[in-house]
Amino acid sequence: MRCGACRASWTPSLKVSGTPATSLSTAPLSPHSPPISFKPFFPASSRIFRNLGSKPWTPGYSACSTMATWRQMTSDDISQLMQVADTVHPGLPESDYVFAERARLFPKGCLILSKTNDNGEEQVYGYTISHPITKGQPPALDSLLGEIHEHANQYYIHDVAILKDVRSLGHAGRAVRMLLEVAEGLKFTTTCIVSVYGTGPFWQRFGFQQEPVDDFLREKLIDYGDDAVYMVRENGVEKRQ
Ligand SMILES: CC(C)(COP(=O)(O)OP(=O)(O)OC[C@H]1O[C@@H](n2cnc3c(N)ncnc32)[C@H](O)[C@@H]1OP(=O)(O)O)[C@@H](O)C(=O)NCCC(=O)NCCS
Repeated sequence: MRCGACRASWTPSLKVSGTPATSLSTAPLSPHSPPISFKPFFPASSRIFRNLGSKPWTPGYSACSTMATWRQMTSDDISQLMQVADTVHPGLPESDYVFAERARLFPKGCLILSKTNDNGEEQVYGYTISHPITKGQPPALDSLLGEIHEHANQYYIHDVAILKDVRSLGHAGRAVRMLLEVAEGLKFTTTCIVSVYGTGPFWQRFGFQQEPVDDFLREKLIDYGDDAVYMVRENGVEKRQ
């Protein structure tokens, strides 16, 4: 099988819901296809997956090892994540233990964009941090959460960061859609973000709109820089019970 975008080839070794992989051969499976849900069915020696190690499987991990794809973050990723964060957000620094805590408290919302090079080493190109919060109360920059509040009633995307080399390939868009699926799956009626660097138009693509802020939130946004904008999206789901 050959990837339509990067021309890499691989041998299908997957089963999808009990269907032999050969029946997938007409599907345009590549890193540029929309994510599909499938369970891994491969030998431990598989070239495609041997570098996953103990990392948890998440839907959306592409079968093409030569392109960056999203998977769930683990504590092992924090040092490489910090290199991305320091490069992308030099003016908005956050500590490694802050990222590590969020990945531990809400792993579903913390993703890593990575690819494996020819030497079998995994390189990190981006990450997302997101989790539930109390409505309208995103955490201060570089602060520990302590816990995900039992009565959290809003989903919050804290950060999506992609290294310049792999931007405009749809990676962020795919991640945002995955995070919104998490939010909607948990029946959060809204998702909020603090947009920085003038990324409002990027977020508007997903239905986020600027919202007025009270004094409490205005104070918190100061740390995010002069251009920080609080935006909220209606998730279009029934209210959680
Ligand atoms: C914003 C960001 C995550 C987008 O990542 P990406 O993988 O390039 O995004 P996608 O490929 O899915 O979408 C790209 C589209 O988003 C839009 N976009 C990206 N950055 C934008 C920005 N700063 N302002 C407005 N639109 C932007 C562009 O229209 C672009 O479309 P194009 O491909 O036609 O040029 C990435 O540019 C980044 O990491 N920026 C620095 C960190 C950041 O600002 N994070 C968001 C914090 S709120």
